[in-house]
Amino acid sequence: MSIETIFDTMEYGTAPEDRSIALQWIADRGGLLGPYVNGAFCPGRDDLAICNPATGEKLAGLSLCTEDEVKEAVRSARAAQPDWQEAGGPARARVLYALARLMQKHARLLAVMESLDNGKPIRESRDIDIPLAIRHFYHHAGHAQLMPSALSDRVALGVCGQIIPWNFPLLMLAWKIAPALAMGNTVVLKPAEYTPMTAMIFADLCSQAGVPPGVVNIVTGDGSTGAALVDANVDKIAFTGSTSVGRQIQDATAGSGKSLTLELGGKSPYIVFDDADIDSAIEGLVDAIWFNQGQVCCAGSRLLIHEAIADDFHNRLKTRMDKLRIGDPLDKSIDVGAIVDPIQLRQIRELVEGSTAGQTYHAQTPVPEGCFYPPTLITGLHPADRLMQEEIFGPVLVSTTFRTPAEAVEIANNTKYGLAATLWTENINLALEIAPKLVAGVVWVNATNLFDAAAGFGGTRESGFGREGGWEGLQAYSKPSKPLAEPTQITAFTGQGAAAEDIDRTAKLFIGRKQARPDGGYSQAIFSPKGKLLGHAPIANRKDIRNAVQAQLACGWGKITGHLRAQILYYIAENLAAQANRFAERLDAMTGLSAGAEEVQAAVDILFTYAAWADKFEGQAKSVPMRAVALAMREPVGAIAALCSDQNPLLGLVTPMAAALSTGNSITLCASAPFPLAATDFYHILEASDVPAGAVNILTGPQADLAPHLGAHMGLETVWCLSGAPLTEAVQARASSNIKRVWQGAAQDDHASWLEAGTEIKTIWIPYGE
Ligand code: NAI
Ligand code: MG
Repeated sequence: MSIETIFDTMEYGTAPEDRSIALQWIADRGGLLGPYVNGAFCPGRDDLAICNPATGEKLAGLSLCTEDEVKEAVRSARAAQPDWQEAGGPARARVLYALARLMQKHARLLAVMESLDNGKPIRESRDIDIPLAIRHFYHHAGHAQLMPSALSDRVALGVCGQIIPWNFPLLMLAWKIAPALAMGNTVVLKPAEYTPMTAMIFADLCSQAGVPPGVVNIVTGDGSTGAALVDANVDKIAFTGSTSVGRQIQDATAGSGKSLTLELGGKSPYIVFDDADIDSAIEGLVDAIWFNQGQVCCAGSRLLIHEAIADDFHNRLKTRMDKLRIGDPLDKSIDVGAIVDPIQLRQIRELVEGSTAGQTYHAQTPVPEGCFYPPTLITGLHPADRLMQEEIFGPVLVSTTFRTPAEAVEIANNTKYGLAATLWTENINLALEIAPKLVAGVVWVNATNLFDAAAGFGGTRESGFGREGGWEGLQAYSKPSKPLAEPTQITAFTGQGAAAEDIDRTAKLFIGRKQARPDGGYSQAIFSPKGKLLGHAPIANRKDIRNAVQAQLACGWGKITGHLRAQILYYIAENLAAQANRFAERLDAMTGLSAGAEEVQAAVDILFTYAAWADKFEGQAKSVPMRAVALAMREPVGAIAALCSDQNPLLGLVTPMAAALSTGNSITLCASAPFPLAATDFYHILEASDVPAGAVNILTGPQADLAPHLGAHMGLETVWCLSGAPLTEAVQARASSNIKRVWQGAAQDDHASWLEAGTEIKTIWIPYGE
């Protein structure tokens, strides 16, 4: 090709990367790889063939670890954990720093191996995956160093089981291992069966970096190995992968006491307004959906385009698509590489070919034989079409139009997922108005796919829970140093149905700011310790829960300012204080103790505390190494239900309520089962305190009957299980219905934990500069 023709056609030549060093690394290990346990590789077996998807060639044979092998790895992690924790943050920081340094020294080997194993373009593995993974270790070396001073009230969880997918093999490993080690945990990690190779190199680097034996263990295998790890004696499971497997893991860990974080799928909207910088938006879109062949959990896979510019935008996009170069991942001038595995390719084909809706356009670019799929655009879809709703996990963009910003938000949020969202507009006011309204853990404004170790990443709804990266990511790998006492279960007193004094006062449920009779029409008699009838409390059922949650979802509490939330909490405190004697008497009558007055004072005090926090539990502006601000905004987790503890019938009701309201959440409170009459008195206080309808609902009755329905309810994002392990288990057993967060409370004075349980970080990225 002459220089003149190159100028004319702007054609690239090929620029192949040398693969020999990576292949030699495998050959040096006899072409077989096994698990890395207690600081050494176990002999490998040829159970699974590890392949290069671009060519189909076998790279290595791999052990499919059995349950016993997984258990052995967990034992090694368990044995190593106390010393690793006691070594202290600064000692751990040295090890993490050494790992980062070594990864940097072997960056090219890691990048080439990643592209060989996964099929992603070398340009991406070299410039994105590996540098970000290294940055993660540097950043978390810092967190380890600072843990004794900055997180002095937190300790490690113990042994963490970590299961990662194949789309960003080394990067996901870094996201999992770096924070876990920093906080003093030891780990057993299982890479995906398609892409274990860089984890094997990483294991080798662990030995070189002086990671103590047992601190990092890597078990190889498929879903069966992952399932064995979930069942093993670990304190936490951290999972990234499909929502269906995430759901299985949530079911499998229910009632086990294991901590859980889930980073699952997405169908993230990519919204382009008519005033956007179109060329930039198109380049962003190339990155959003054709980066890593679209096999990205946060891929901007759902284009929402302003109707006025849709045709022009689609035409320009097609022109750009035709220029994408698809082929050998190890060619440095390739844009789109291979799909990870023929199974995944088949899945993409079936999804696209199985749908007749819309118009499908495949890029007019040469597509090599084998495991490749052309960049594809499907236009003219309806928001409810299957391809608009389901994750394709391939290089396929679906598109629909909108007319107004409100409609854009509505369509964007019309999904079961909530991982990421991108929006393009030159109007800063519009951008900052829309970003908070998008249901997503990450929002990119006029950019896409920005990631950094200092900024939290993670989802809401069926995209999972928990954050990775930043200070918020450390929460998931540590716990308060003061252990939480298991709540005591109290049996209700029994007695004779002698008539109560005065005129009978009927206690009701409190739903949508109305006193409501229980749907089932049953009440239970409540007796004093001496057997005197104190009153009747209604018995709530599934329909009462449904009505309460419906009221929660309509209440709008999350939209009012922190200042106003504080005012209402103070008002509740004021009204409660005015009735202090009445409540104290009621408490003493129910419990037979004389601590009622003290409990009322504590309840007033906690209301004041969370009123104070309502406008002070702030987010952060993250220090990211690029020309952008990453805002960590604290958002309410959404509709909460709480199973209140048996003890402290008033304080145990008011604390979750105040914490939830303070952070902008609505709440349905299932009152202390043996002592419900403080709760049914309390709604009079709420009625007098300007609490909007549905922001607080109060149910009474046996919690064991309510718990499974709370767990299963699709409208509840969170259940706070504050009344003990048996009911926590009952909630957890159903919680995977909508990937619900289940939280077991914190010490009464650990306000930060309560506030954190009521919030989730949304990271809003805004680049700057021209
Ligand atoms: P997957 O969710 O099955 O695999 C992820 C990891 O979980 C792998 O390490 C796998 O071995 C492990 N695993 C599988 N079953 C398990 C079980 N029962 N218990 C414990 N661990 C288990 O994902 P897969 O099958 O590779 O891909 C299927 C679809 O999942 C993709 O088409 C895509 O839609 C989605 N996916 C989403 C990812 C994300 O980052 N959100 C990543 C990978 C896949
Ligand atoms: Mg592979």
